[in-house]
Amino acid sequence: MTGATGVMGRAATTALHAAGHSVTGLARDPDRAEMLKRMQVRPVPGSLFDRETLASAFEGCDVVCNMATSIPVGRSGLRPGAWKVNDRIRSEGSRIVAEAARLAGIRRLVQESVSFVYADKGDGWIDEDDPISVTNAAEPVVVAETHTERFADNSRVGVVLRFGNIIGDDIMTHRRLARARAGQAVGLGRPESWMHVVHPDDVGTAVVAALGAPSGTFNVGADPVRRGAVVAAFAAAAGQQEGSFYRSLVVRFGGERLEWLTRSQRVSSERFARSAGWKADQPEFGPHWLSQLVRVRGATGRG
Ligand SMILES: NC(=O)c1ccc[n+]([C@@H]2O[C@H](COP(=O)([O-])OP(=O)(O)OC[C@H]3O[C@@H](n4cnc5c(N)ncnc54)[C@H](OP(=O)(O)O)[C@@H]3O)[C@@H](O)[C@H]2O)c1
Repeated sequence: MTGATGVMGRAATTALHAAGHSVTGLARDPDRAEMLKRMQVRPVPGSLFDRETLASAFEGCDVVCNMATSIPVGRSGLRPGAWKVNDRIRSEGSRIVAEAARLAGIRRLVQESVSFVYADKGDGWIDEDDPISVTNAAEPVVVAETHTERFADNSRVGVVLRFGNIIGDDIMTHRRLARARAGQAVGLGRPESWMHVVHPDDVGTAVVAALGAPSGTFNVGADPVRRGAVVAAFAAAAGQQEGSFYRSLVVRFGGERLEWLTRSQRVSSERFARSAGWKADQPEFGPHWLSQLVRVRGATGRG
């Protein structure tokens, strides 16, 4: 697994261990190797951008899961060049991972992706056959998906998991909670628009299910929820009467980086459930997704 120490990687590792698998993780340096060992993950040195070291890191594995990302959090995401590293991971890194996996004789590749790529469909349901809307912001994701699709053939399986917006014990969620606590905006888009969200636990179970899925692209998340309800849940968890949305000026200023996060996306994860037998442990977003985090913060001072 690449990105094993990240939000998606940790969830995937926990679920894979629970399902009886052993996990090997790409370690960029000795500190991260130690971190992986503490997670019961066997570290192997290598770089996402070096095909040969990656191929030797993959030797002996049955499956490669590419979970590496480097998403800028908060306002830093609006700085020029902020997305360069993440875009490179998704476009170039995913190609090198797929090539190295082929070299190492790997038969199955699982690639993380996001469901924000779908075009706005108002109140209509979205499945994997619906059109995507590719902006500069979305392009690296689509490129990563393409490398996985090309990896797949008669003898190899490529599975793309289009995750919803992760809401859980991660830096982005904690940041939104902190903003809500300060009475600041956390919502993007229109309150009545639909949002596809996923709990980190279900990111993990989806990776396990992907080990048995056929080649293809699959949506993974809870039932879609209206953005107004998400903002209200953040406000309630933060002890505020009501939450608020960013002004349209801010969204315009954010350009393409924010635009795809405002689309109305009533995304169905039915196909993955049918094809891979996956079932969400957290099928419905609600305040309970956040109350646990607030309790953790109260106990540890985190967030
Ligand atoms: N679907 C979604 O909503 C979604 C998707 C992705 C991220 N996010 C959110 O965005 C926030 C930040 O996420 P993040 O992805 O930056 O951090 P993260 O989840 O903490 O970790 C990213 C993982 O990718 C690895 N990585 C980063 N750069 C790498 C590189 N150049 N080569 C190899 N591996 C690399 C990291 O490994 P090291 O240990 O080597 O650093 C780490 O394991 C989080 O709150 C997360 O939930 C949301």
